[in-house]
Amino acid sequence: MAASSQILRAALTVSVLLFNPAAAHIASFGPGMYCRNGPDPSSPNLNSNAPVNPLYNLTRSQWWFQHDRGCDAVPPPDGEFLELPAGESFTVELANNQAFTTLSYDGKMVSDWPDGAQHPEDWHGEVGSGPGGEGCLPGDSGGYMHVQNETMAQGTAWAIAYESDLSKIQMKDLVVFSVLKHTPWHRLATYAVPSSLPATCPPEGCTCAWLWVPRGCGQPNMYMQPYKCRVSNNGPAKKLAKAQPPTYCVDDASKCVKGAKQMIVFNQLEGDNTGFNGGWGWSPGYNERNGYESGAQEDIFEDAAPEQPTPTTSVTLSSSSAITTESPTSASASAAPAESSSITTTTLAQLTQIFDTSSSTATTIAETSVHSYSTTVTGRIGKPTKFVCYAQED
Ligand SMILES: *[C@@H]1O[C@H](CO)[C@@H](O)[C@H](O)[C@H]1NC(C)=O
Ligand SMILES: *[C@@H]1O[C@H](CO)[C@@H](O)[C@H](O)[C@H]1NC(C)=O
Repeated sequence: MAASSQILRAALTVSVLLFNPAAAHIASFGPGMYCRNGPDPSSPNLNSNAPVNPLYNLTRSQWWFQHDRGCDAVPPPDGEFLELPAGESFTVELANNQAFTTLSYDGKMVSDWPDGAQHPEDWHGEVGSGPGGEGCLPGDSGGYMHVQNETMAQGTAWAIAYESDLSKIQMKDLVVFSVLKHTPWHRLATYAVPSSLPATCPPEGCTCAWLWVPRGCGQPNMYMQPYKCRVSNNGPAKKLAKAQPPTYCVDDASKCVKGAKQMIVFNQLEGDNTGFNGGWGWSPGYNERNGYESGAQEDIFEDAAPEQPTPTTSVTLSSSSAITTESPTSASASAAPAESSSITTTTLAQLTQIFDTSSSTATTIAETSVHSYSTTVTGRIGKPTKFVCYAQED
């Protein structure tokens, strides 16, 4: 006991010594994150700041989901997701090191702030002070925040793609769905989820990105951090529209892109997508300068309902002459999309006909001497669907 608390104390001391406020910035921490405990799973690090470092002047393959530091190769454990309830909200922790979140040390090092320290509620830099007269929070205590005060915090955001393989995601499929103005600021940040976001993530999960572009108070860089996420939605859903580049529109609001927007790619060697070309101390951002309103992005959909993933049901038929089987997804579904059921006989039965009671259609099976047969029937879910399978003995 004494030894382990000594080890803990030693670890905490090291963490404090290692923090370099000029280099440490902010990431989000929570379920479903990649790179939890650092980029080396064989050596878990509760004191990891791997995800907090910014992306700057990198090629697309380097900045894409933090490939530059190997975080893209460390997904969460199977079955762990950031849960996104449509029409409601979710909370993550923003911090400059995992040590200052509830993911490490049983939360013993957390405060209301991203650095585990105490700060006044109106924490601020002195107007006109510091390099360039930017008035930033002092570098030694608040440099990681990249900001002068809460009002100047530029906003953070989340994007989602309905694809779990990071290498298959295209910019048009990664849609910004939530923005939170005046963040990062406190440790806890709560983001609203659009009410029509579809619950059609693949079984391995959707991919989400936590996003931030600070303005001034340091290097003009960007943040894009990977998560595995999953959407639940009990109401009607819509199909996501293709995301457009988020044009910088500070001087002319008519240039702001409406509807589904991409993340901001800024000051990289490849992929910049805002048309912004300003100098040090000025940046695009997840705010009105690039046409993002704070809150759930309710305008990112087409009118069409989303395609449902195809549930596959295996039904084993015994060798009786008539078998009735229910589609297991019929009770839970809310919409009425097409559904497929795969029916497999594993006995000596010969399947001769499948009758779908909801559509009154019959599928006649031509083969007469198969011992194992697999076919697909299409029905509608939304009301209970009964597939009556007629089979006969060999
Ligand atoms: C960006 O990277 C390129 C290529 O490595 C380098 O030549 C250039 O100096 C860098 N620019 C900045 C501003 O760091
Ligand atoms: C925040 O900082 C900016 C830039 O220094 C300053 O103009 C503004 O007055 C400050 N606002 C508050 C509420 O302190």
